[in-house]
Amino acid sequence: MRLLAIESSCDETAAAVLRTPYTIESSVVASQIAVHAPYGGVVPELASRHHITAVHTVVQRALAEAGCSMAEIEAVAATRGPGLIGSLMVGLQVAKGIALARGLPFLGVHHLEGHLCAPFLDEPRPEWPFVALLVSGGHTGLYHARDIDEISVLGMTRDDAAGEAFDKISALLGLGYPGGVAIEREATGGDPARFKLPRPLRGRHILDFSFSGLKTAARRALEELGETPRGDLRRDFCASVQAAIIDTLVEKSRSALRRARAGRIVVAGGVSANLALRQALEALAAEEGAEVYLPPLELCTDNAAMIAVAAGMRLERGERHPLSTSAKATLPLGTLAD
Ligand code: KG4
Ligand code: ZN
Repeated sequence: MRLLAIESSCDETAAAVLRTPYTIESSVVASQIAVHAPYGGVVPELASRHHITAVHTVVQRALAEAGCSMAEIEAVAATRGPGLIGSLMVGLQVAKGIALARGLPFLGVHHLEGHLCAPFLDEPRPEWPFVALLVSGGHTGLYHARDIDEISVLGMTRDDAAGEAFDKISALLGLGYPGGVAIEREATGGDPARFKLPRPLRGRHILDFSFSGLKTAARRALEELGETPRGDLRRDFCASVQAAIIDTLVEKSRSALRRARAGRIVVAGGVSANLALRQALEALAAEEGAEVYLPPLELCTDNAAMIAVAAGMRLERGERHPLSTSAKATLPLGTLAD
């Protein structure tokens, strides 16, 4: 089946054509980073307006790059939530409009389920069941995924997401948005032990995360310095922040692998583009005798190929959604852990 998917949950307008189950024929992402950068974060109203301006061109480009016409598309999918409501509505309505006009099956996809499916677009492909670590700008959680519709929550952030911590601390340093990319760049060659930053909820039995304390500790450390650090000091600061976030993600992932008695861990979401995190998780997997699956770098941050894969898995099981499907700013993934 040839599937067109649209993603517009935050600040990327994306469309992809997928030949089910796993062949990406095109994946187009129009980033709004330049639009939001002057504000240090995503401005929801601006995001919706830019999705409206971009979506038609992005869909046309996805079709052109796949070398197909709309008439050759057999199903349409779009992100349904969670995300910015105005942004979600743009992609969702366009997808439903196409489905209605052409009489095609439609599917509304959970954004995090999409992230979780991104590693299926690379070889070797993960097999169910696995532990999933989802680390994005709006979300950080650990899951036990037995199948696409059998996902239970092992742990969740109690406050900020890991990406949000990167973004907020980057803003404190005046390094701009998206913060994860800026902090990773600065951290290279820095001393991760120079600043003592907290690793909250450290206990093995707790699988929840908390990153707001890190943000506060970073702010205090900067206040004590008395000026915004530059040069080596800034490199050491960024390396210390990155190490605090990575240590926490790795130790909670270790506990989750043990708790679920799982032999595989799948990592996804924008923060999984972080090379130091990828290396640390590869080391963790080796220590625990597990396999780790990471998405290709270009599929870590928001894109429509991952939405298409998730939709394809569900469509192939006969699932279809009504055109009354609405966008949801909040939408839980999975059931509570057993
Ligand atoms: O998954 P995503 O594109 O959007 C959401 O669904 O939230 O994730 C965006 C987040 C931002 O917080 C950004 O700072 C972070 O991913 N991020 C990174 C890196 N690239 C993006 N964090 C750490 N290191 C990176 N290389
Ligand atoms: Zn995302």
